[in-house]
Amino acid sequence: MCGIVGYIGPRSAQDVVISGLRRLEYRGYDSAGIAVGSDGTLSARKKSGKITHLDEELAARPLPASHQGIGHTRWATHGGPTDSNAHPHLSQSGRVALVHNGIIENFAELRAELEADGVRFASETDTETAAQLLGRLVDEGTPLAAAMRQVAGRLEGAFTLVAIDSDDPDRVVAARRNSPLVVGVGEGENFLGSDVAAFLEYTRDAIELGQDQVVEITRDDVTITDLDGSTATAVKPYHVDWDIAAAEKGGFDWFMRKEIYEQPRAVADTLLGRYSASGELTLDEVRIRPEELRRIDKIVIVACGTAFYAGLVAKYAIEHWTRIPCEVEIASEFRYRDPIIDPMTLVVTISQSGETADTLMAIRHAREQHAKVIAICNTNGATIPRESDAVIYTHAGPERGVASTKGFLTQVVACYLLGLYLAQVRGMKYREEIAAVMDELSTMPEKIQRVLDEGQQVLDLAGELRDEHSFLFLGRHVGYPVSLEGALKLKEIAYKHAEGFPAGELKHGPIALVEKDIPVFVVVPPRGRDQLHDKVISNIQEVRARGARTIVLVEDGDDEVLPYSDVVIRHPRVSTLLQPLVATVPLQLFACELATRLGHDVDQPRNLAKSVTVE
Ligand code: AGP
Repeated sequence: MCGIVGYIGPRSAQDVVISGLRRLEYRGYDSAGIAVGSDGTLSARKKSGKITHLDEELAARPLPASHQGIGHTRWATHGGPTDSNAHPHLSQSGRVALVHNGIIENFAELRAELEADGVRFASETDTETAAQLLGRLVDEGTPLAAAMRQVAGRLEGAFTLVAIDSDDPDRVVAARRNSPLVVGVGEGENFLGSDVAAFLEYTRDAIELGQDQVVEITRDDVTITDLDGSTATAVKPYHVDWDIAAAEKGGFDWFMRKEIYEQPRAVADTLLGRYSASGELTLDEVRIRPEELRRIDKIVIVACGTAFYAGLVAKYAIEHWTRIPCEVEIASEFRYRDPIIDPMTLVVTISQSGETADTLMAIRHAREQHAKVIAICNTNGATIPRESDAVIYTHAGPERGVASTKGFLTQVVACYLLGLYLAQVRGMKYREEIAAVMDELSTMPEKIQRVLDEGQQVLDLAGELRDEHSFLFLGRHVGYPVSLEGALKLKEIAYKHAEGFPAGELKHGPIALVEKDIPVFVVVPPRGRDQLHDKVISNIQEVRARGARTIVLVEDGDDEVLPYSDVVIRHPRVSTLLQPLVATVPLQLFACELATRLGHDVDQPRNLAKSVTVE
């Protein structure tokens, strides 16, 4: 998820673009850049790090005055956060500058085509491929908008592209698919932005671009076409009522709530580009040879907090698909228990921030024991990926809420991808078996969206239970880590006593906690696993018989739970192993709403930090 700004008008393009980038810094901040056109030449400045680094660069090397400009704050997906990988990217002739948000799935083959034509690339990014394709067409005489339509038609994946042509100083052109872009309509000036925060200080009149549409803005005109060049019909102008602060949160009250609703997109982006048309799973940076992975005889997953719970989900999936023993360890405990680690051990670390000290120290210990380390991380270029042998990046975009939500769901997806990849490399799964799981994973964004669309029931429940003091969460199999995660969310932001248990463990002590009306959430396994399902039904009866208020999360059509449930929260039918992707979401919504109703700071709860960089 990156921040994009475009401008054409009487103001200083640099001023408008830089102020817009500051408003969008929450969308990504590992590098930033700007390009402007003046007197038939493009000038660009770009720096890794926060926008302040770009400010210093602009002070040292000022841009020429200009009224045409584009800018970008990056959240790296392909290629680390370096100056050369920062956007904008220029075409080889220097005539076209481009910024991009999203993931171009087929960039490798397009890059090979261009390199075969003698194009020399200056970066590792997927974005530069689009810049070179665009530049080649424009150099051959194709107008920028027509070139943009052609290039967008060749790309696969998700993208917002914004470009300028040095020989066309009165225009900025953009295209989008599965990635946001809005037009800001001014008086004698027009704007482009990843969201309205980019231009809200100048205009509140906006137009949202539709799928596969191309927009040209000049000072006085906004022209929107489809990829075939026909005038777009479903153009939706609207007036923005949000204030700037609300705009940064996309109109939501909290970053956490916004991030909960971003999960369909985050899961889809994490799946993008990892499964080829030929049915091959390819992970971005697994720099461990297949023959080494075939020799692995044990996996140890190491993480903290929510990431640890993602690891618990991963254990079920990885052991089922690969038959490799898989341990899951709390990072702060791992190295003090003198773990049995050797070169045949694969250590998998999971970390949203990539800077968690406990996890970092654990992998350093593992590497000292000559284990191979794969990092699952959401932050490109962070310390943990840098110190690992291989990396699978989640593509959740920046997660600002201290309580992790989209970070968790995309970690779980990345763990599934790793498990399937290992099964593929070790020949434990046939191609069609992997295809079946990948096909179901590809339906998860829409299933998560349905859970979100039906979330009002959970928000109302939070209002009803806001004064409760204690909550229990029960689950079996992958429902157990979901229960732990649901309890952690409530602890973190609502400051409520909440505990997750394996449902079968209750009778060994914790059931003594059950008293009249205590809210007990129960994650019911899909009926495909009848043994599990029937046992959880029994567990619901056990707590209900002792007066508990049972709140049951269960798949569509499962009415066996009805006689024992005070509240039934439905989710779409999914395979047992994939259930965390739909069952966690209501628990996230519940915690967020309850904390909101209690008047807490949901994004920055007391005593907590987003990244715990101390042991
Ligand atoms: C989760 O909501 C918490 N913010 C916390 O448990 C977090 O998951 C843990 O500190 C690990 O952080 P990391 O994923 O950045 O390593």
